[in-house]
Amino acid sequence: MKIFLDTADLNEIRAANETGLIDGVTTNPTLILKSGNSLYSTAKLLALEYPHFESISCEVVADTAEDMLKQAEDFISIAPAITIKVPCTVEGLKACRQLSNLDIKVNVTLVFSVAQAILSAKAGATYISPFLGRWRDNSVDEIRLIKNLRSVYDQWNGKTPNILAASVRDVMQTEKSAIAGADIITIPPSVFWKMYNNILTNRGLEMFQKDWEEALKTIV
Ligand code: E4P
Repeated sequence: MKIFLDTADLNEIRAANETGLIDGVTTNPTLILKSGNSLYSTAKLLALEYPHFESISCEVVADTAEDMLKQAEDFISIAPAITIKVPCTVEGLKACRQLSNLDIKVNVTLVFSVAQAILSAKAGATYISPFLGRWRDNSVDEIRLIKNLRSVYDQWNGKTPNILAASVRDVMQTEKSAIAGADIITIPPSVFWKMYNNILTNRGLEMFQKDWEEALKTIV
């Protein structure tokens, strides 16, 4: 299971990366805007600071494949880890096909159905991003989508995209998508830090610390 951070906040990425448990980053225009950094400089800084990341997703947004490919050009030249994120639309998947033919990694985003996942696989995507939180916000069983995608890709004859569970709201959703067969989860830093938490770990540690002090007093 790989963990990507779903943020463009450089301080948050730096802090989480120090754990040695982060494999990549996903951004989108909203996250970049929130971070206060610019589109291309964020990609450059991330690629420079984290050469070990498998993937750094940078999103293109346009009405035609041609315009998406133009926007992608400046990202692609930055580093091989840069992954072009395209929307799951007719034009987005046309761009995906062309980029995949050039061996450029593509993350198809805004995926909400098995049908879209089938089309993305045929377009040669490296990753697909099913949006779990946005489904759950609308009272739809988002984990069932992951199970269904896993089942379709497991029966697929040929290469399939990595299932990159996105729009994750909490630790429970993280666990459930891992169990359902997601290859990667992309999570906000707040969810990443909460993954460590368990009340029994804290209680157990308190007891071990107390007993450690007592044991030090024992003279044999
Ligand atoms: C990541 O690839 C997506 O852009 C992101 O997870 C969307 O999350 P949201 O639904 O919280 O905006």
